[in-house]
Amino acid sequence: MSGHGIGATDTLPAMVRVQRPDAFRWRGLANQNPGGLSFWELIREDFGAHGRVPTPGFRAIAVHRFGNWCKGVHPRVLRSPLDLLYRWMQRRVVRRHGIQLEYAAEIGRRVVIDHQNGILVQSLSRIGDGCRLRHNVTIGRRRSGDATCPVLGSNVDVGVGAVILGEVHVGDDAVIGANAVVVEDVPSGALAVGIPARIVRRAAPDHDAVRAESCAATTDGSRDDSGELAVVDVR
Ligand SMILES: CC(C)(COP(=O)(O)OP(=O)(O)OC[C@H]1O[C@@H](n2cnc3c(N)ncnc32)[C@H](O)[C@@H]1OP(=O)(O)O)[C@@H](O)C(=O)NCCC(=O)NCCS
Repeated sequence: MSGHGIGATDTLPAMVRVQRPDAFRWRGLANQNPGGLSFWELIREDFGAHGRVPTPGFRAIAVHRFGNWCKGVHPRVLRSPLDLLYRWMQRRVVRRHGIQLEYAAEIGRRVVIDHQNGILVQSLSRIGDGCRLRHNVTIGRRRSGDATCPVLGSNVDVGVGAVILGEVHVGDDAVIGANAVVVEDVPSGALAVGIPARIVRRAAPDHDAVRAESCAATTDGSRDDSGELAVVDVR
């Protein structure tokens, strides 16, 4: 049987087979912890953001930071046991606290996870600095197999039970109401509520100016930044 490629799965012991999809995604990914700070400085900052209390949210983020830090460890013979330790810790956090931060998700600085249970941030999602997530928040793909995940700007406040799906951009300082289902972009500083999320309040003009500038700077044309939310009800 072939020694590499998907066909090699059959030759692996059962335990390794279970972890194989993750192992594939793991390979080649860079450390996605925010740059400019060491691992311990990041942990210290996260601890401070969580009120200097080792809450489940802090633990989940610390394990996520550790998993990403592991990617930068060389040689591989040292990295592999650290990866295994990370996987064990991550599963423990999922089991005990119900917080699943997939390792390829990008978590910014001072992100706070209030409470626990039912929190999922899928791979490739990006959470900006200073965001706040509450329990039962899901940030991930719109359909299984999609490659695109949401991008949250800085200081986004995500209410309990909110769901943010697909290729959406949530601007800086936006607020997502409890139980909202966001499937379209939310401008900076806006308040989005309901299913599907509609904007009930927009930001002060300076937020819109910043947003317009960033849209103008987008040159690939793959996103329609003019549309904002499909259903817009602005007071
Ligand atoms: C979104 C939120 C921040 C809005 O607070 P606010 O700034 O005081 O906004 P308002 O109360 O003026 O609400 C504006 C409109 O949105 C509606 N609205 C507010 N929150 C809503 C929600 N979660 N779902 C649907 N509609 C909502 C209000 O009914 C109001 O509609 P109206 O103008 O037709 O009357 C707040 O309602 C919320 O959902 N917070 C989540 C916080 C959270 O998760 N707490 C859990 C702690 S563990």
